Amino acid sequence: MKDILCEKEISKHLNDEYNIKVFDEIDSTNIYLKQLAKNNAEPHTVIIANTQTSGHGRFDRKFHSPKNSGIYMSVLLKPDLEAEKSVLLTAAAAVAVNEAIFSLTGKKTEIKWVNDILLEGKKVCGILTEGAINPKTLKFDWAIIGIGVNVYTPENDFNSEIKNIAGAVSEKTQENLRNKLCAEILNNISLYCENLQNKSFISKYKEYSYLKDKRINVIRNGSSTPATALFIDDECRLAVRYDDETEELLNSGEISIKL
Ligand code: BTN
Repeated sequence: MKDILCEKEISKHLNDEYNIKVFDEIDSTNIYLKQLAKNNAEPHTVIIANTQTSGHGRFDRKFHSPKNSGIYMSVLLKPDLEAEKSVLLTAAAAVAVNEAIFSLTGKKTEIKWVNDILLEGKKVCGILTEGAINPKTLKFDWAIIGIGVNVYTPENDFNSEIKNIAGAVSEKTQENLRNKLCAEILNNISLYCENLQNKSFISKYKEYSYLKDKRINVIRNGSSTPATALFIDDECRLAVRYDDETEELLNSGEISIKL
C-alpha cells in the first residue's frame, strides 16, 4: 500500500484552488511559508513536508515530525480579522481537521481546547496559527495556519518524550490516506476558516470539545492551578471553575491546559 505525499495526488481531491508545494524535508513549513508571505505570496499558498527538522508548536515547543508517517502543512490566508481574534482561525482549523479525519477514516476525534486534536485521549494533531498584524488596522495582513497530523505511528515508534501522549489516526497504511487528508483539510479550511463570520464552526467546536466537565490544570506563567472545565463560549474562551468555587473565562494566549 502506497501513501507518498505528492502534489498531483492531493490536487485530485481538492474542491478549491490551492497552490501546493511538497517537500521531502524542510526545517518548518511555517517558517518557510512565513518567508513567502513576507514576499507577498498569494493566499492559498500551501507548503507540505514529509518531515521537519525544526517543527514547532505553541510556546515554542518542539513538534516531533518524523518522516513517512505524518502531515506537516502550512496554509497562507489573508483573513479580514482582528489579530486579537486569532483563536477563531485556530478553532475553525481544528473543526476542519476533525471533520477531515472523520470523513476519511470514520474515526471520531475530539478537540482539546485550544489547538490539539485527540483520538481516544492521545494527541494526533496540533495546530499553530501565526501571522503579521497591520499596525494601522490591527487586523491580519496575513495568517498562516500550521497543522501537524500523526497519520501513522512512525517507523521507530513515537519518541520517548511523547510516547505516552501521542497517537496516530490509522494503524495501517492506506492507499493515499495522507494525500486525501491534506486535500480534505484544505477543502474544510475553505469552508470554515474563510467563512468565520458565519460562525457555524463555533457550535461544531463546542460539540467536538474534549474538556467539558473534565478535571484539568490551568498552566499560566509556569504555575499550575487545578480546576474543572465548564464550557466554551462564542469567542472560544474556556470557562473554568477553580476549587475555591471562583470561575474564570480563559483566553488561549498565555494559557495551556493539562489533564
Ligand atoms: C502544537 O502542538 O502546539 C502545534 C503544533 C503545530 C505543528 C505544525 S506542523 C506544520 C507547521 N510547521 C511547524 O513548525 N509547526 C506547524
